[in-house]
Parts: sequence; C-alpha cells; structure tokens
Amino acid sequence: MNDLLLRALRSEPVERPPVWFMRQAGRYLPEYHTVRNTTDFLGLCRSPDLAAEVTLQPLRRFNLDASIVFNDILVPAAAMGMDLKFIKGQGPVFSDPIRSVNDLGRLRVPSVEKDMPHVLDTIRILVDQIDVPLFGFAGAPFTLAAYMIEGGGSKNFLHVKQFMFENPERFEELLGQLAEICGDYLQAQMEAGCSAVQLFDTWAGCLSPEDYRRFALPYARQALSKVKGVPRLYFTKDSSPFLPWLKETGADALALDWRTHLGAARAVLGDIPVMGNLDPVALYGPPEEIRRRVHAIIQSAGPRGHVFNLGHGILPTTPISGVEAMVSAVNEWRWTD
Ligand code: CP3
Repeated sequence: MNDLLLRALRSEPVERPPVWFMRQAGRYLPEYHTVRNTTDFLGLCRSPDLAAEVTLQPLRRFNLDASIVFNDILVPAAAMGMDLKFIKGQGPVFSDPIRSVNDLGRLRVPSVEKDMPHVLDTIRILVDQIDVPLFGFAGAPFTLAAYMIEGGGSKNFLHVKQFMFENPERFEELLGQLAEICGDYLQAQMEAGCSAVQLFDTWAGCLSPEDYRRFALPYARQALSKVKGVPRLYFTKDSSPFLPWLKETGADALALDWRTHLGAARAVLGDIPVMGNLDPVALYGPPEEIRRRVHAIIQSAGPRGHVFNLGHGILPTTPISGVEAMVSAVNEWRWTD
C-alpha cells in the first residue's frame, strides 16, 4: 500500500509530497466520455461498476498517490427528497428549491444504506483493486444548503443569503440537520473502506467572516466531529479571509485554493497539514511553466505536512499534457535533509 498520503497527513518526513487532484475522474479524460456516453451523470454515480471504473481511470494514466470515489456532493440532497438533474451546460439544477420555511417540511433524513447504497458498493469494489488510499467525501452543510436553496449554481447567492438573513434560526436548524447527515454519510464511507474523507465547503467563500463563523464553520465542525479513525480534510474556495479560524473546523488538514500562498498561510495556521494549491488554469500553460509553479508551491509549503493538489477541481477542457506535467513535477521532487 502506498502510504505517502497518510504519512504527509501525519506530518511525518516524506521524500516528496503526495499528489492527487480534485475531480481527477471526469470530463478532461476521453475514456470518461466513453463510459459517460452510456448513461446520464446520476446513472453513472448510481452504478457501482461504472463509478468504480471511472474512479480508476486517472490512476491508470498518472502516478497518483490517492483516489477519490466517483460521486457528487449533491447526491445526499437528492436522497433527502429533492429533484436533482444535471443539465448539460448548466450544471446541477434542483427543480424544487427550498425557498421558504414551509419548504423545509419536504426534506427527509436519508439512510445511507437504503438511499445511497451505491456509494458504499462503489467503495467496496474499489478498495480491493487499488493500492493507494481512497477518499470518501461530502458537501459541507453551508454549501449543500446553498445549492438546495439557490436551486443550482449562483453568482450572488441571493436566495440563500435572503433565507439566512430573514430566518437565521430556521437556517441554523437546517444546517444542524445537514451536519448530522454529512457526518453519518462520511462515517459510513469510512466504514465501507475509505482511508480519508474530505468535506467540500466550496461556496462558503461567499460569506462575510462573521457569517462564515456563524453559518459555515460550526456545522463543518459538527459534521467532521462525527467521523473517527481516518484523516478528515476540509476544503473551502476563497477561504483566505477565514484563515485565522479554519483550524476551528477540527479538520486534520486544510485544502486551500490558489489565491493563498502556502508559506504565508502556515504563518497563520501553525503546524496543521495543508493541501493545494495550483491554479487549475495553470495546466493550460507550457510544461516548463507548470513545473516551475509546482516546485514553487512545494517549496513554499515546506517539507512536512503538505499534500499536493490543485486549488480547485480540474476544468473539463484541461489538456492531458498539462496534467502529466504537473504530476511528474511532483513525482520528481526530492526533499533532501
Ligand atoms: O474528484 C473526483 O474525481 C470525484 C468526483 C467529484 C465530482 N463532483 C464529479 C462530477 C467530486 C469530488 C465532486 C464534488 C462537487 N460537485 C463539488 C465540490 C468540489 C468543487 O469542485 O467545488 C461541487 C460544487 C459539485 C457540484 C457539481 N457537480 C458541479 C458544479 C458540477 C459541474 C457542472 C458542469 O456541468 O460543469 C457537477 C457535475 C459533476 N460532478 C461532473 C463530475 C465528473 C460532470 C458531470 C458530467 O459528466 O456531465
């Protein structure tokens, strides 16, 4: 078993940082399209054999130190009774978003075993086939609530913020309910065989620091606190204004986007392991420039407690040659004492 990831997450000495990347299975790979053309996106997530196959695809191409189960953060929202569709060019859409306190009554508490058994089955198939750690994941309560209230992606997060400002206590109740669901879901993925879990709080960066500390952070902490026995990572996009508080999530490592200098972040965060943080768009640049940037990030993070990753998910039109340049630049690095 390749344990580089787990050693880095324990801040043990490593010869180089481990490397994997968010959305490493997906549309930039032609072999993904071959599988995806046989079914729709949710059908793919819900077919354990196909989901396991697309999880393995990036591992066959690149020398990666971790994998992440193929699924989506919005699957639990669908299991709570919301009508979820992925529309080409538009992304995820809920036809019946939560817009009032009354709408909250429609939501039900899902059972992972009954309503999302495919996730656990996919994990069980994968752990027998791979020699790198497998990540399980979930969307963090604020990010999930934002999608459920907006009904899809959003620029200004008008609906979720309006709900939050008008009904802060009811919003907190929803977040608490989502935190319990997320925590149980992550724990179930761990019990099925995942060696680490990641909580994606992609949209919490839309909040003011005060709102982040009231509506995002405590519920991320509540969800993570339910998972015991594996490293728990926490990702937020646009999180640099929240650096002084990120450790309060209780996460074992923090994933940062590319706007944050890892060395400068360490000065605020202390010795908690960090993950990141190449700009995904850098992969469109020339290989030598990618290599230079990868090495600058590794140098800025330092020799202990760093997992190399992109600063956010890979973009669908990314050239494969850019991914190869990134992975080999990490693979060739050696820390010397
Ligand atoms: O990392 C991996 O390889 C595992 C798979 C994974 C997917 N989604 C597959 C996916 C993971 C970890 C996610 C998480 C996810 N999903 C997040 C958090 C991380 C982030 O990137 O911010 C968010 C916000 C979502 C919601 C979501 N699902 C979006 C915004 C989209 C893209 C919509 C679009 O068309 O651009 C999806 C769909 C999705 N999830 C795809 C994949 C491979 C593409 C679907 C397709 O094949 O058409």
